[in-house]
Amino acid sequence: MPPDGRPDALALEKAPAPEAVAGLERRCFDEPWDADTYCSLLANPAVRAWLLLDARGQGIGLLSFQQVADEAELYRIGVVPEHRRNGQGRRLLAHWLGWLRARGIRRVALEVRADNMAAQALYRAVGFREAGRRPGYYARGAADALVYVVEWDGATSPPAATP
Ligand SMILES: CC(C)(COP(=O)(O)OP(=O)(O)OC[C@H]1O[C@@H](n2cnc3c(N)ncnc32)[C@H](O)[C@@H]1OP(=O)(O)O)[C@@H](O)C(=O)NCCC(=O)NCCS
Repeated sequence: MPPDGRPDALALEKAPAPEAVAGLERRCFDEPWDADTYCSLLANPAVRAWLLLDARGQGIGLLSFQQVADEAELYRIGVVPEHRRNGQGRRLLAHWLGWLRARGIRRVALEVRADNMAAQALYRAVGFREAGRRPGYYARGAADALVYVVEWDGATSPPAATP
């Protein structure tokens, strides 16, 4: 964190082309969502994708989500393998949560494979709690989905914007 106590600014591309999001999906996920999928999703104004950029402006991560009324749902978060375990995912997710909260969002939900321990640890690290299970939700491996949520009310402090 810089000396003035403010969190480091993140370099984000907030309106990327579907092809750019899909390109990062291919680097981050075993089962990437393709450009056609993002083309359809991003035609809905409630859906957005952000790219996380490195100092040279190259994409190193992505986040996609839907925001409806005062709720948001995380679709995807990914960091390219060579940048993992360096706090990038946590910074991106914490920044997104702060951004949502500043816009009046009160509940954030996501689904995660029950066998994705890295993602679950990340979600817990920024304040999510497990709120349910959907047995057999994922076809590949017949894995369960866990539902994680963050809920804010007037008495709850926002999540830290940085680790
Ligand atoms: C999940 C993912 C985004 C984490 O990104 P990351 O930049 O490596 O995460 P961070 O370095 O910010 O880690 C933050 C915390 O998450 C947890 N974490 C991250 N990766 C972990 C791993 N492989 N094993 C255990 N805990 C892990 C730790 O608590 C970590 O804190 P610490 O470093 O202080 O221990 C990344 O592993 C990824 O892209 N995975 C493939 C895509 C995916 O599964 N996305 C989630 C479902 S959409």
